[in-house]
Amino acid sequence: METKKLEFFFCIFLFSLLAGHQKVGGSSHHHHHHTHRHPYVFKPSKLFVFGDSYADTGNIAKSQANSWKFPYGITFPGKPVGRFSDGRVLTDYIAKFVGIKSPIPYRLRKYAAKRIRYGINFAYGGTGVFNTLVPLPNMTTQIDFLQQLIHDAVYSCSDLQSSVALVSLAGNDYSAFTARNGSAQGLQSFIPLVVTQLATNLKRIHGLGVRKVAVTTLEPLGCLPRSTAMSSFQMCNGTQNAAVSYHNLLLQQAVAKLNNESKDSAFVVLDLYGSFMSVFKNKGEHPGSSKFVNPFKPCCVGISQAYSCGSVDGSGVKKYTICNDPESAFFWDTVHPTQEGWHAVYSALQASLEQLH
Ligand SMILES: *[C@@H]1O[C@H](CO)[C@@H](O)[C@H](O)[C@H]1NC(C)=O
Ligand SMILES: *[C@@H]1O[C@H](CO)[C@@H](O)[C@H](O)[C@H]1NC(C)=O
Ligand SMILES: *[C@@H]1O[C@H](CO)[C@@H](O)[C@H](O)[C@H]1NC(C)=O
Ligand SMILES: *[C@@H]1O[C@H](CO)[C@@H](O)[C@H](O)[C@H]1NC(C)=O
Repeated sequence: METKKLEFFFCIFLFSLLAGHQKVGGSSHHHHHHTHRHPYVFKPSKLFVFGDSYADTGNIAKSQANSWKFPYGITFPGKPVGRFSDGRVLTDYIAKFVGIKSPIPYRLRKYAAKRIRYGINFAYGGTGVFNTLVPLPNMTTQIDFLQQLIHDAVYSCSDLQSSVALVSLAGNDYSAFTARNGSAQGLQSFIPLVVTQLATNLKRIHGLGVRKVAVTTLEPLGCLPRSTAMSSFQMCNGTQNAAVSYHNLLLQQAVAKLNNESKDSAFVVLDLYGSFMSVFKNKGEHPGSSKFVNPFKPCCVGISQAYSCGSVDGSGVKKYTICNDPESAFFWDTVHPTQEGWHAVYSALQASLEQLH
């Protein structure tokens, strides 16, 4: 315990030294290793990822999810690898923005030792800040994993100094609450508890030495196909979206408070809600192409309520259907965007991503 505390302080101490040093950098200290042409542009070299299926790139075990079954992964990398999509997910696009390879899943860190220099993805599908219905590491435990790696000297303070974190919270705490309680009653008073725990986690990640911490707003849950199915994929559920807006308001306030407490504006909100909504509104249309004819209709669905995308029966007969062209669908299954959907969201996120520099 004692040594851990010391290391923690050391990292912070070094951090303040580096930060102070950078302000005077360029005038007299030409030999230091921050050799960027513009001394104030932060160019991260590592990405650490925490959260759920919107960010998981293969931590979830094969026995635990459909994401390891065909047709998940058919667009990229061409077979199921645990991503909850036909291809790339949010993590892959954020890594692209940062200019590094997508960080390897924590589960695979020992098999790809060279890749850990791009960071590590600790996200597990189905998880939340609290324990959910899946027996997988919650966000606190995911952060414990990073802390252990720092303790084991896998990452140094200067590594952390040149890293950013992506934190995805897509709503599993709320589905678990609703499932356990049999209704969404009382959800309103649960929302502040989730956001408070999330803010605690963000602060802890920064406290470990990670320079910038980006957190996503909650996507419009009422527009996920599992909700729009009631209206034949025509209408979002306004009640659910109102709860989401409350979560996002509290999150914005919590992040503003964290930034006010930290001198360096370390915390960035990635507006997933606004990005999803703007894609729905203009149907993801880029000049010269019209896409996502019905953005609420998923590409891959079970043939009935009892089945989902990827389901097969005892004799291996598939119990789902896939659309002809996954590129024309925003949603892959009843909860997760397609690669093309994430690409459109990524385009819409550009403005908030600039804050990472
Ligand atoms: C996270 O999971 C661990 C292990 O199950 C548990 O002890 C801890 O209370 C959980 N944290 C939160 C914030 O729910
Ligand atoms: C669960 O639902 C009931 C109504 O069905 C509600 O009175 C109660 O507050 C909810 N539980 C929690 C923990 O909010
Ligand atoms: C919207 O969601 C709420 C809460 O999950 C549910 O009670 C309600 O029936 C839904 N409304 C519609 C129109 O589907
Ligand atoms: C930051 O915190 C200080 C002291 O708590 C407060 O006076 C100030 O209004 C806050 N600034 C912002 C921008 O929230």
